[in-house]
Formats: sequence, C-alpha cells, structure tokens
Amino acid sequence: MHNLDQDQSNKLRYTYFVCITAACIGLLFGLDIGVIAGALPDIQKAFALSPKLEGLVVSILLGGAVVGAFLSRYLARRYGRRNSLLICVTIYTIAALCSGFAPNYEILVVARFFLGIALGIAAFIAPIYLAEVAPESLRGRMVSLYQVMINVGIVCAYVSDTFFAANAEWRWMLGVIAVPSFIAGVCFLLLPRSPRWLVLQNRVREAKDVLMSMSPSKELVHRNLEEMKAMAKDNISSGLGVLKQVNFRRVLYLGLLLQMIQAYTGINVIVYYAPELYKAAGFASPMAQMYCTIAVGVVNMIVPMITARFVDQWGRRRIFFIGLTVITIGLLMETVAQYAPKTYFFAMMGFIASLIFIAGFAFSLGPVVWIICSEIFPLKSREVGMMFIVASNWFYTMIIGQLFPMVDSTFGLGPVFVFSTIIAIFGFFLIGCYTPETKGITLEEIEENLLSGKKLRHLGKQPNFNKQL
Ligand code: BGC
Repeated sequence: MHNLDQDQSNKLRYTYFVCITAACIGLLFGLDIGVIAGALPDIQKAFALSPKLEGLVVSILLGGAVVGAFLSRYLARRYGRRNSLLICVTIYTIAALCSGFAPNYEILVVARFFLGIALGIAAFIAPIYLAEVAPESLRGRMVSLYQVMINVGIVCAYVSDTFFAANAEWRWMLGVIAVPSFIAGVCFLLLPRSPRWLVLQNRVREAKDVLMSMSPSKELVHRNLEEMKAMAKDNISSGLGVLKQVNFRRVLYLGLLLQMIQAYTGINVIVYYAPELYKAAGFASPMAQMYCTIAVGVVNMIVPMITARFVDQWGRRRIFFIGLTVITIGLLMETVAQYAPKTYFFAMMGFIASLIFIAGFAFSLGPVVWIICSEIFPLKSREVGMMFIVASNWFYTMIIGQLFPMVDSTFGLGPVFVFSTIIAIFGFFLIGCYTPETKGITLEEIEENLLSGKKLRHLGKQPNFNKQL
C-alpha cells in the first residue's frame, strides 16, 4: 500500500517537473514582452533613432513571430513537440546574445526578428505540448502554468529593467535574457516526447512508456492509448485542407473569437503602456508610475496561480464568468476615471480599476482562453488549428500596438475603455452560448463529440451523452 502511494506521488512529482519545465517557455515569452519597454528609450538614444525606426525595433519581432507561427507546424510535426522546443530555445538564446552585443542598428533588428521567430514557435508548441502530455485530471492546471510563467517573465523583466536602468544599460537588459533561456534549454533535454505525437508517428510503445510514467493507473494508460490510436486512424487530413471541414472551422472560429476577446478587452494596452497610462491618469512622478506598473505585474503574476489550482475543479466556464464580471467592473471604473477631472482621487480610482481589471484577466481570459484553444482541435489538425490561433494572437496584439498610440493621442483613453467594455460584454455571450466546459474529459472524447456534430457548447459532455442535444 505504502509503495503504491509512493509510486503515485513520484509520478505526480514527475508530471509537475515535466509541465513546469515546459511552461518555462512562457517565461521567455514574458521576459521579452517586459524587457523591451524598459530598453527602448536607451536604444533610441544610443542609435539616435527616428520614431519610425524605433517602432521597427518592436514590430520586427511580430513579423518574426508570424514567420515562426507558420514554421512551427512543420517543426512540431516533423521533429516533435519536445525537439521543436529545443530548437526554439537555441534560436532564442543566440538571438538574445546577438541583440545584447549588436554593433549596429541593423544587427539589432535582425536579432529581434529571430527572437520573434523563436517566440512564434514557442507560443504555438508549448500549450499543445502541455495539453498533450498532462493527464486529463491536471490538464487545465498544467496549461495555466504557461500563463503563470508569461507573467513571471514580465515581472522579472520589469525588475531587471529597473535595475539596469540607472546606467542606461540596454545591452544588459536585452542580453541577460539569454541566461534563463540557456538554462531552460538544458532542462528541456530531460523532457519526454508527447505521447500523442508518438502515436501519430506509430511509435506506440514509446507513447505507452511516457503515459505510464505519469498516469495514475494502468487501465487509464490503456484507455488513453486506445483512444489515441483510434483518433490517429481517422480520416481528418492534417494540412490546410482541414479548412474545408466544417467541424474544424467551427472550433477554429470559436478559438479566434476567444483570442479576440482576450486581446481587445485591453490586456496589452496595460502590459505594454502601463507607465504612460498612469501618467495620463495623473501620476506625475516616473517613480510612482513605475511602482504602479510593478504592482500590476505582480497581480498579473500571482492570480493565474489561483486559476491553475482550481480550474480542473471549478471548470473553465465558471472561471470565465467570474473573471469577465470582474473585468467589466474594472473597465467601467477605468472609463469613469478617464472622463473625470484629473484629481488625486480619480488617479487612485484609475489605478485601482487597472488592478481589478488585471486580476479578472489573469484569473480568467489570460489562462483559460489558452486552455480551451489547446483542447478543442482534433489531434490530426491540432497543429494547423493552433497555428491560426497563435498567429491571430500576434495579429490582434499588432493592431493594438499600431492603433493604440494614435487613438490615445487623437481621442484620449476614454473611448479605448468604452470599446473594451463592449468587447467584455460580448465575451459573456460567446462563453454563455458557444464555449464548452472541458474539465475532466479526455481530448479524444472532445474530438469524438466534435466529429459527431455536437454543438460547440456541448463538446465537453461525455460522448454517450443524450444524442438529441
Ligand atoms: C496574452 C498576451 C498577454 C499576456 C499578458 C497572454 O495570455 O495572450 O497577449 O500579453 O497574456 O499576461
């Protein structure tokens, strides 16, 4: 009995090790998001850049990310999820070092383009790997870890920027992120391959070994393996041809809309422009702006841990509803604060509103949109599906990056928050009517439901659930 318990807890520990290590990709994502905000003013001075060239330092990364998103599907299929993660950290480490040592502006831009490629690949493969490797009882929790790590990365970058900012050391800011990337790469060598990918490659024995090392019982391993084999045999094609399949398109639209809600409720306005936002709200001192920014970063980092703990118990939909309510309250308060006179009271109200907003986001839309997107696509078309999802995430962010400064300077921040509130309200509708509850069901059962034509809202029910639905 004691040995059995010991065996279970060893497996659980191993599962956590695997998932936390893979989620470190999120850390690299977050480090880059956070680091450029602090480094940009110094880079601009160092190379005497015009606003256009300064903008290119940021946006070239998005271009690279789109290329990465398109490459990643090929890599994930050809070399497997684990090896693709290794490729990605190798590119990231080299590109981070090159940007730190860049002798001129051109090399800096090229290095950031490659950094973007690495991030494009990473953002695509990490959630797939996590969803495929974790047992279903822990799947939501493990994919949430990815979000936790993004936010840990953002906060670490804010803190590291503040540390190096005293001497305007942008080279250190950019170069130092090669260190965590290198360490992550070494740890990735210890990760197992995704069992679902192994089954797709007809390497069933190896898939079984991986499942045995993490699954609580032999029966479950047997059941999962049989389901994976059955799914690998079905006739859904794996290329862009899947776009012709109505069932694939149904989940793709859901994923794209969920990503839209995630982006346009305004998270990246806060993440990228927090100091400016607090300045506009009335915090005159740069130090006060920085403290507010770090506070937001810390809330954004801690709250997804609560989600990770409870998402497999409470379910995805309940978390969405609670989070969206908090988000809407935060956005309404933010709107009032923007239109109100610039007094200390309203500056504080704006700050508190941003904390409320970020808490709601970090609890719900941040992690759970990634969880649902990693769960809803059929195995054979999961890579194509996630490729579109990740590309849409970069695309939505790019639009915000481009439009936000223009809208802000022409109309002020008020309309930005009104728009975000409308999007949040649309979110209630999308989740209420179309988003399935996927807790505690295998990816293969979700797929069976999808292919049998069940409504999106019912994809998470047991497949033998009442057929009339
Ligand atoms: C979003 C990113 C965002 C990050 C901030 C992620 O879930 O996809 O766009 O920057 O959360 O925490």
